[in-house]
Amino acid sequence: MDLGLQDKVVLVTGGSRGLGAVICRMFAAEGARVGVNYCRSRAEAEALAGGIGSGRAAPIPGDIGREADIAAIFDRLEQALGPVDVLVNNAAHCPGGPLEKYTRAEWEHTFAVNVTGAFRAAQEFILRLRARRAPGWIVNIASTSAFLGSTSGHLPYDASKGALISMTHALAREVAREGIHVNSVAPGMVLTEMVAKVWEARKEQYLARIPLHRIAQPEEVARVVVFLASPAASYMTGATVDVSGGLLMH
Ligand SMILES: NC(=O)c1ccc[n+]([C@@H]2O[C@H](COP(=O)([O-])OP(=O)(O)OC[C@H]3O[C@@H](n4cnc5c(N)ncnc54)[C@H](OP(=O)(O)O)[C@@H]3O)[C@@H](O)[C@H]2O)c1
Repeated sequence: MDLGLQDKVVLVTGGSRGLGAVICRMFAAEGARVGVNYCRSRAEAEALAGGIGSGRAAPIPGDIGREADIAAIFDRLEQALGPVDVLVNNAAHCPGGPLEKYTRAEWEHTFAVNVTGAFRAAQEFILRLRARRAPGWIVNIASTSAFLGSTSGHLPYDASKGALISMTHALAREVAREGIHVNSVAPGMVLTEMVAKVWEARKEQYLARIPLHRIAQPEEVARVVVFLASPAASYMTGATVDVSGGLLMH
């Protein structure tokens, strides 16, 4: 199936490593040009963009939780590869621990990256799409924890992913008639740095809850993200697609 992504310009926040890096490579394989946003992982972002090739990918620095960086991220990407057609809100902060551990600052930082950052990126993107009367695609990377919570103590993160899904609905309704599609993906457990340690420590407990009885490889989530970000998903907006091996069914 041709996804219609040839030469589309894609911004993947937190694209330097983990799931984001796999999403970047998969867009590039579909012929898209990719902005690999990074906050701390500059070397990884440069290596990833370099591997895809100049003119096809660019490392884009910027802290998604920092107001001053949002417009600058889009400016840099436009200068490097052209106006943006697809935004993947993938960057996330995931602190761990029991509820008594969290400070207000930790809660606020989690929301600043996972919710406010995703909102500001979407807002900036939509305003730029409107200015050129172009259609667009937004995919927000949520989590099954938005619906189920976590058994390993990630309360601010879980709540932030719930907010991201609510924001997906509100945004999707508001911009649908402008040809802008907004959807979410809710992964279960995916083998990246974010969960590698907890997975090893509690593998049997997690396996018992996952009907497919294994953890996802990032590619299995990335495929769904790329599809949702393409004209091939033409009748989808406001959806949250579970990619959880059956951990969540609804
Ligand atoms: N792994 C899972 O099991 C799982 C399950 C459900 C949902 N998810 C979601 O999938 C997405 C990717 O997660 P992952 O597993 O790949 O996590 P990860 O390996 O921990 O990577 C996190 C990514 O977020 C970026 N990031 C963090 N703070 C940032 C900021 N302020 N500005 C820009 N980038 C920032 C990091 O970039 P730098 O290194 O450059 O700072 C990194 O690329 C997240 O939205 C996560 O919530 C993951």
